[in-house]
Amino acid sequence: MTTHTYYVTTPIYYVNDTPHVGHAYTTILADALTRYQRLLGREAFLLTGVDEHGQKVARTAEAHGISPQAQADRTVVRFLRLWERLGIAYDDFIRTTEPRHVRVVQDALRVLYERGDIYRGAYTGRYCVPCERFLADGELADGRCPDCGRAVERIREEAYFFRQSRYQDWLREHIEHNPGFIRPAFRRNETLGFLRKPLRDLCISRPVSRLSWGIALPFDPAYVCYVWFDALLNYVSGAGYGYDAARFERCWPADCHLIGKDILTTHTVYWPCILRALDLPLPRSIVAHGWWLVEGEKVSKSKGNAVDPFELVARLGVDAFRYLLCADLTPGNDGTFSPERLVERYHADLAGGYGNLVSRVLSLVHRYCDARVPTVNRDETQHLGVHTAIHSAVACVPGAVDELRLDTVCAQVRALVDCCNRCLAEQRPWEEANAAQRPRVVRAVLDGVLAATVLLLPIAPDTATRVLTLLGVPAADWDLGALQDAARGLHAEATVGEPLVLFPRVK
Ligand code: MSP
Repeated sequence: MTTHTYYVTTPIYYVNDTPHVGHAYTTILADALTRYQRLLGREAFLLTGVDEHGQKVARTAEAHGISPQAQADRTVVRFLRLWERLGIAYDDFIRTTEPRHVRVVQDALRVLYERGDIYRGAYTGRYCVPCERFLADGELADGRCPDCGRAVERIREEAYFFRQSRYQDWLREHIEHNPGFIRPAFRRNETLGFLRKPLRDLCISRPVSRLSWGIALPFDPAYVCYVWFDALLNYVSGAGYGYDAARFERCWPADCHLIGKDILTTHTVYWPCILRALDLPLPRSIVAHGWWLVEGEKVSKSKGNAVDPFELVARLGVDAFRYLLCADLTPGNDGTFSPERLVERYHADLAGGYGNLVSRVLSLVHRYCDARVPTVNRDETQHLGVHTAIHSAVACVPGAVDELRLDTVCAQVRALVDCCNRCLAEQRPWEEANAAQRPRVVRAVLDGVLAATVLLLPIAPDTATRVLTLLGVPAADWDLGALQDAARGLHAEATVGEPLVLFPRVK
């Protein structure tokens, strides 16, 4: 039997515009989650990618006077560049124009059509182009799109429909019996509320006469596939469905589809119904985070308030940027994006907190311990409280990671750093009068720094790797259990590196 790989996905991003801090956030969270799973001893796989078809991309291309493919080709580079800059270690990157994906979509369409789960009918109603969504009258907010607030268009056309209505009761029961399927719980309630009204079949076609930029329906070339039906299937095409059976068996069902709250219905209603119709198991969880807001509005290019991640990374450094996004927002809730607050936190948590502690303890080791990790029996350091703090921080991580509460993990690191600083302030190992205690105090604080660093590996990988090297331990193959085990931590008498400034102060 193959062991299951913990499979994490991000939404695939539209290539109509350059990435902003909202896209960066989802992807950083997913990357850190994947790395935490590895730290917890699991195999893990991260998929991200881009959503290239649909009216939104076609219209942007037209406005730029280029083909949709050229629009996609030039925008995908910006995402790839950003992910590289942000240290996103994805295992695969899917583009929906790739043949491996197109084949999966066409096969799925064919199977569902042959089974009678896709049928021909007529659609009359409203459509929101930016969101690529059909909207019933009851769904409109003051006559506008309930999600983006923009004007909707009235359309009537012959179309193909996915018979998802037949799965409504099954889906409601699945959600009721699996509390962890949609998280957080209030989002689950939102979907259950949505499912209290009759579920309408989903229009999955666009006439080529109106929109040609899409995957052709295999049973009617006069139509292309609706972009959401196409896009959702990336989660299986990216996992090898239909062409890499071994990967698919390892990865599917996905463990966590990480999404923003704006795409809850497509993921928690359409997607499970599509999977059910294809006889595929459902993902274990769909986790929706909130939005970054500026002056109460969602950060987005179209609102003109987009924050450029490259700029912030240039100012603060990549690891600080990753840490600050993870620490500052409780996933689930919205948060106000404020560069001033991030800089404040940068100084408190990183420059003055963790960074300062690392340089402080390395200085002590160099000055008083001959640059070596002191050999100390762990029983002799218990009274200092650092090992108790390590224990409680490490114990809290699996649960926090499972709930995607990386802000909680960051708070644990802060608590550990505070505990180490308190220990130094109380024990004053630099004073001659305390020379006898010195090796114990320095060692306990070094152990605390090691634990904080390992906990930070998934969020701030470059910095943490650098610190582990300074501490004389390898950065690869850490697992959380090793932190609780005195025999597997620091190597006694190993030489430590010179103190350094990890997070310089910024203006
Ligand atoms: N292409 C679809 C998703 C298809 S998934 C099968 C899409 N793309 S998107 O580019 O518009 O946005 C994708 C995601 O970016 C959102 O769901 C969300 O995760 C993230 N964010 C975009 N703006 C955001 C904020 N202001 N704040 C936080 N995240 C936001 O929707």
